[in-house]
Amino acid sequence: MFPDITRDDVFRLETRRLWLRWPRAKDAAALTAIASRREVAEMTSRIPHPYPAGAAEAFILQAREANTSGEEIALVAMLATGKREVIGTVSARHNDEGRIEIGYAFAPEHWGRGYATEAVHALVDAIFMLTDEPAIEAKVRVVNAASQGVLRKCGFATVGTGLESFPARGGLYPVDFFRLERKVWKSLKLWAEPELVLPPRRPVAAPEWSAEALGA
Ligand SMILES: CC(C)(COP(=O)(O)OP(=O)(O)OC[C@H]1O[C@@H](n2cnc3c(N)ncnc32)[C@H](O)[C@@H]1OP(=O)(O)O)[C@@H](O)C(=O)NCCC(=O)NCCS
Repeated sequence: MFPDITRDDVFRLETRRLWLRWPRAKDAAALTAIASRREVAEMTSRIPHPYPAGAAEAFILQAREANTSGEEIALVAMLATGKREVIGTVSARHNDEGRIEIGYAFAPEHWGRGYATEAVHALVDAIFMLTDEPAIEAKVRVVNAASQGVLRKCGFATVGTGLESFPARGGLYPVDFFRLERKVWKSLKLWAEPELVLPPRRPVAAPEWSAEALGA
């Protein structure tokens, strides 16, 4: 279960370029535009293709219910400036083994600009800061180099391969299993923020001025 702070729809994560916030009814058109793209759906286990009418509205309701109950953190990624367009989704939930697993998808028009990495980074930070989870996991199709790139840039490492059921694709697919341990995340945070480990500055003694030195 995720903590109370994530269960209220004012919960929001802010990154340099994005706001990650709860989905709202008015996001349906943007989410439909993303989920109905074949190149997005084919990498996911749950997005059907073609994407049926009403599926985005159902997703929004389900996500808000799961967020409220603390079963999930399901957020949309919105550009923080300009038209404040919704360009993707990120989520975290407990898998069948009771471990936290993340998922994400972004609009192809915005691929390759670091948005997914920025969003996943923020989600990972929030999970480790707000819970006691020892690790976060993800499953990625072996052919999904972009998603593997996102996970590696966020500190995840491969811990195995296997066949996983992709219900929306109708079968089993080869996947790589990725994992990020809390202790690895912690050490990466220290590398990224050296100012956190700098010793306190020593006070500098004020110079002593004599009347002579000042030319008086
Ligand atoms: C995976 C996905 C979210 C990545 O989104 P994104 O915003 O383009 O990701 P980023 O820009 O943060 O990073 C992608 C990285 O993968 C790299 N990449 C992209 N395509 C690649 C390819 N074919 N081979 C190798 N690397 C590739 C990019 O160069 C980038 O790395 P870099 O910053 O070191 O150059 C997006 O492709 C997507 O939505 N795919 C469909 C849904 C999906 O796969 N979801 C994840 C399921 S596990």
